[in-house]
Amino acid sequence: MIDCNEAIARLDWSREPQGLYAPIAYALSSGGKRLRMQLALTACRLVGGNEQDALPFAQAIEVFHNFTLLHDDVMDRADVRRGMPTVHVKWNDNTAILSGDQMLIEAYHLLEGVPQQHLPLLLKLFTRTATEICEGQQYDVDFEQRQDVQIADYIEMIRLKTSVLLAAALKGGAIIGGGSEKQQQALYNFGIHLGLAFQIQDDLLDCFGDPQTFGKAIGGDISCNKKTYLLLTALDNADNDQRAELRGWLAHTMASTQKIEAMKQLFVATGARSAAEHAIAEHTQQALQCLLTLPDNEHRRLLEQLAHKLAQRQK
Ligand code: IPE
Ligand code: IPE
Ligand code: MG
Ligand code: MG
Ligand code: MG
Repeated sequence: MIDCNEAIARLDWSREPQGLYAPIAYALSSGGKRLRMQLALTACRLVGGNEQDALPFAQAIEVFHNFTLLHDDVMDRADVRRGMPTVHVKWNDNTAILSGDQMLIEAYHLLEGVPQQHLPLLLKLFTRTATEICEGQQYDVDFEQRQDVQIADYIEMIRLKTSVLLAAALKGGAIIGGGSEKQQQALYNFGIHLGLAFQIQDDLLDCFGDPQTFGKAIGGDISCNKKTYLLLTALDNADNDQRAELRGWLAHTMASTQKIEAMKQLFVATGARSAAEHAIAEHTQQALQCLLTLPDNEHRRLLEQLAHKLAQRQK
């Protein structure tokens, strides 16, 4: 089986100017779960393909994912990722923008290496997915300023910013592996629900995780007034006093530990935390349902285990 970390480490960033490439090497060597890459390779094997054929696509997806993180950390004013200073902190915003742009270009360059008969379809999938992620990221930022966001809006936003990349990784792997359109679609749908559970869990960890384990600062979403599942559910469930308190903190635009602590307590008191946990379990179950029509082999079981594991993840 392909070692994802090793396959990413094989990419060469030693060329000039290092001001452009060193931050890319830094971002790609700082770890990460390599989830999207694993999904692409596993989907390829699941439908009977050879995972080596899916390697350039899987690398492209992983480099693309890491590109989104460089820009996302500028947008979210996040200083720590994978326990290390983010690129815009270690270097500066310009570096995060341009090295990020170059990673996006490198992702397309890697796509040139996919089996030629699948190139048109994979290009189309990749480009549509990239556009959807930008749309999701824009909604995410727009929502910071909005007071009328509903849970359904949030779900659509995270489908776009997070789920479609997991889904495209799986579908692309299935295309390369020679899977039927039905299998491609089943894996895509699995990725959508897995991604929804994954992002709600990310929101939960951003609030209640251990910064050492999670590798990101806790409370970033609260400081940015992100309209997370936690906040929206808290607003829905709150009594009048709690709602006034939540609204009061939302009006505080200065980041403060006091605001983070108060919001966390409100998320617990309003039942938002347990509702989020419930929603994660629910979307995980829906994801697992999507796998039922697929061949019952060890690769499908790997995806099932992964879905269960991600629902419990602490990082
Ligand atoms: C972070 O993704 C961005 C989200 C969609 C929440 P991951 O949690 O997969 O990041 P790494 O690659 O494992 O660090
Ligand atoms: C990330 O959402 C989605 C993308 C990067 C496209 P978040 O902003 O929640 O991701 P983290 O928490 O910074 O990893
Ligand atoms: Mg973000
Ligand atoms: Mg972020
Ligand atoms: Mg997050």
